[in-house]
Amino acid sequence: MKLGILASGGGTNLQSLIDASEAGGGSAEITVVISNNSNSGALKRAAKHGIPALHLSGRTHPDLAKLDRAILHGLLDHGAEFTALAGYMKKLGPETLSRYRNRITNIHPALLPDFGGQGMYGLHVHQAVLAAKRTMSGATVHLVDSAYDEGPVLAQQSVPVKADDTPDSLQGRVLCIEHRIYPQTFQEISDGLIYIGDGTPPLVIRPLRLKTLESGGTFFGAFLENDMVGSAAIEPARDDGDTWYVEKLGVVPRRQSTGIGTILLDHACRGAAYFGAKAVSVRLIDKDTHLKSWYRQRGFEETGTRDFNHLPFTVCFMKRRLCGG
Ligand code: GRF
Repeated sequence: MKLGILASGGGTNLQSLIDASEAGGGSAEITVVISNNSNSGALKRAAKHGIPALHLSGRTHPDLAKLDRAILHGLLDHGAEFTALAGYMKKLGPETLSRYRNRITNIHPALLPDFGGQGMYGLHVHQAVLAAKRTMSGATVHLVDSAYDEGPVLAQQSVPVKADDTPDSLQGRVLCIEHRIYPQTFQEISDGLIYIGDGTPPLVIRPLRLKTLESGGTFFGAFLENDMVGSAAIEPARDDGDTWYVEKLGVVPRRQSTGIGTILLDHACRGAAYFGAKAVSVRLIDKDTHLKSWYRQRGFEETGTRDFNHLPFTVCFMKRRLCGG
């Protein structure tokens, strides 16, 4: 995946993305770095790694519309499919926002939606977290819309706040997490583990980082404007490494019949395939002919039924073969 990066400052997040891409196996290739600050560490880091580095600002383009267009062309000319903001202190213009709609990410040093918005940057964020006596903080990767720090969350990871933390010490701990989750987010987008729809607002499906799935499975949440509207879990079958179960596939009542269930099911199948599954299975109540036909229409075939002592109904197993399976 080709990434254009916009950064204003030291560029340590940019560096984490460069390092991931140079380490190989990294999915994101950084094709251009743009900064409003001609002296930024970000531009120096880009130059050091042979990445095209552009200084585009109110100084090079006093007219805001022309600056917007120059940034957009800087990205498009270098083939950027996604634009990642990494400590970019300016707002993006309407043309760039519209051309890269649902394809612009930002990283924020707190657990959004808390401690985001105007004025929440740098040490101000960590000062506010400490003043609010929070015991947890963290980092958030999210999609950018025209509002500050409000777009859909793509990844979030928390860190503890310690009793003797200063804004500086907390910033250091959060920054370590940022450097891990930003490259990981692009890896997961490119591996198909994070889904970003085309709608307004976009449907986002992402792994929920729960510690409870000891089976090695993954729980996915589907979100619209950061409201959870559905879920699906995948986990390997205990007795058959080639088959993974899809469980907990559901959509909240208000959002049913809108196609989210099918998108979630396809996402779960893609996730299982990513982890090496050759087929996915579901377990249903045998008498539930409506649900069985829903799965049949989506490529599943009945493979058998079974009675369990602890269940007052017969269970039907249905299977869908995955590509290559
Ligand atoms: C990071 O804390 C990031 O979360 C925020 O700006 C800071 C940029 O740091 N958006 P760096 O320039 O990547 O070191």
